[in-house]
Amino acid sequence: MPLSIAASGKGGVGKTTFCALLVRYMIEVGKSPILAVDADPNSNLGALLGMEPEGKIADLREDANQPANTPSGVPKARMIETWLNQIVQEGKGFDLLTMGRPEGPRCYCYVNDLLRQFLSRLKKSYPLVIIDNEAGMEHLSRLTTDNIDRLLIVSEPTVPSVRTVGRILELAASLPIKVGRQAMLLNKAKNGSIPESVRQQAENLEVSATLKLSYSQTLGQLYERGGSVFDLPGKLQDDPELTKIAQWCLSG
Ligand SMILES: Nc1ncnc2c1ncn2[C@@H]1O[C@H](COP(=O)(O)OP(=O)(O)OP(=O)(O)O)[C@@H](O)[C@H]1O
Ligand SMILES: [Mg+2]
Repeated sequence: MPLSIAASGKGGVGKTTFCALLVRYMIEVGKSPILAVDADPNSNLGALLGMEPEGKIADLREDANQPANTPSGVPKARMIETWLNQIVQEGKGFDLLTMGRPEGPRCYCYVNDLLRQFLSRLKKSYPLVIIDNEAGMEHLSRLTTDNIDRLLIVSEPTVPSVRTVGRILELAASLPIKVGRQAMLLNKAKNGSIPESVRQQAENLEVSATLKLSYSQTLGQLYERGGSVFDLPGKLQDDPELTKIAQWCLSG
């Protein structure tokens, strides 16, 4: 089974930036091929990985739900699996799967059941799966019941933001997905330091680690300029903070 690592957290805290950095880091340390999953309806993981998503699960699900779109004689299950393989975009050391918007009000149970099976099978061909989520992860939970081995709840290093982490942990516990170890990732730490009040707030959380990633002007500008993490100079594996995060992810 692959190791699956997911990031969650409220809007704008840096989930997508972190996932893209982790994809590049893991490629550098030889953990490829990686399946990068963009499970945020407002998809932009592809952009930070230097890719324009061409196909999304959301479109596939709509198409598969229209009886007129099934060519006669082709079993629906086979057709969906073929389409799914077509929307997996190949990058260097990773593949990208973009989920797109959540489903509409119609009944998608049959199509979702098939998608769940095929996604599960697809994931098995990768040693590592990295998933960028929206805060609640409901979107993901409708399309998979597979376990998440490591969940990183990303937060800004402020007391209100850390309080939200507690609520996200409760949400995660209420989903039908089993989560292995959980950590909080304090992102955009100014000068790499975490205020004492934030540390105290963090002590109340049921997480196995508190990790951090410093504020970096280069990262902020990268996003604004529409660049990808592969444009960043140097080797990410030399970054002590990312190394600590990756070690937490990879350790048994
Ligand atoms: N460590 C960092 N240093 C500086 N800027 C950062 C850092 N991490 C993220 N950012 C910036 O914060 C903004 C939000 O980042 P990002 O899109 O990754 O957040 P998100 O949690 O995925 O947001 P959304 O909820 O909209 O999906 C971006 O402008 C990004 O460049
Ligand atoms: Mg995002």
